[in-house]
Amino acid sequence: MTILVTGATGHLGRLVIDSLLARGAAPDDVVAGVRDLDRASDLVDRGVRAVVVDYDRPDTVADALRGVDSVLLISGSEVGRRVEQHRAVIDAAAAAGVTKLVYTSAPKATTSGLVLAPEHKATEELISASGVPAVILRNNWYTENYAGTVEQARATGAFAANVGDGRVASASRRDFAEAAAVVLREDGHVGQVYELGGDVAWNYDELAAAISEVIGSPVEYRRVRADEHLAMLAEAGLDEGTAGFVVALDAGIAEGALADSDGTLSRLIGRPTTPLVEGLRAL
Ligand SMILES: NC(=O)c1ccc[n+]([C@@H]2O[C@H](COP(=O)([O-])OP(=O)(O)OC[C@H]3O[C@@H](n4cnc5c(N)ncnc54)[C@H](OP(=O)(O)O)[C@@H]3O)[C@@H](O)[C@H]2O)c1
Repeated sequence: MTILVTGATGHLGRLVIDSLLARGAAPDDVVAGVRDLDRASDLVDRGVRAVVVDYDRPDTVADALRGVDSVLLISGSEVGRRVEQHRAVIDAAAAAGVTKLVYTSAPKATTSGLVLAPEHKATEELISASGVPAVILRNNWYTENYAGTVEQARATGAFAANVGDGRVASASRRDFAEAAAVVLREDGHVGQVYELGGDVAWNYDELAAAISEVIGSPVEYRRVRADEHLAMLAEAGLDEGTAGFVVALDAGIAEGALADSDGTLSRLIGRPTTPLVEGLRAL
């Protein structure tokens, strides 16, 4: 059974390939879809085949998917361009007769108010309309997203956010990668929409305490309003668009967009998800 992983030179993609191999996939059954073959030499050294998959070049996607059984479509990183990019993979999967298309989506993508949700919702709809047998992995936040927060706290002893008391059921990338590998390797799962998050949904006071434990000095979480946060980010040099995006993400967290976790991720991977402190320490 041939499994192709797109975005294979990205953080999540590499971990998915690690997990597939660790779970017994034969290296020559695994195909790394990458934009730049030169950056895949470590994967090739492990016996994995690397092929060019560039969402912006649909011909590369069509060529790569021919003869492939299962595909993991790792969502692209260019916000605003992703629906068209993902469409190239979905169309190619349909044309190639792929028997399992797995997609990394966002929590409650079809109903969420999170600023990132619309592109994931649109992609899920394209997948559904394509008729390709599919599995949706609605991944919550990576704990790794807080690397910058840890550095800020180390430098200043504090960090600010407009999330209020909102909670985040984060897990480490490795947890999400293992879940993808399980779903790709095992029979079944087709038709499922999995909401995947860490076992514990923490708030930002708990984040401050966890960072404090990791860096060994006190850390304060400063609750600020959205307009205050926007001004702080602008003063720190962020452009208007990026600052607005950060503030909108925080507003989503404040409204509970990332707060739910039903244990599906730990059930899929057969172990508890990586605790917040451990995930931060690994950074
Ligand atoms: N759940 C979360 O907290 C969270 C956080 C951040 C991102 N995400 C989403 O999850 C995805 C994977 O996360 P990550 O940490 O692995 O991100 P990452 O390290 O930035 O990897 C993104 C991957 O997508 C590939 N890619 C981007 N544009 C592409 C295109 N036009 N054609 C083909 N491949 C393309 C990149 O290729 P190159 O290696 O050539 O650059 C890279 O391999 C992200 O792309 C984003 O959609 C989720």
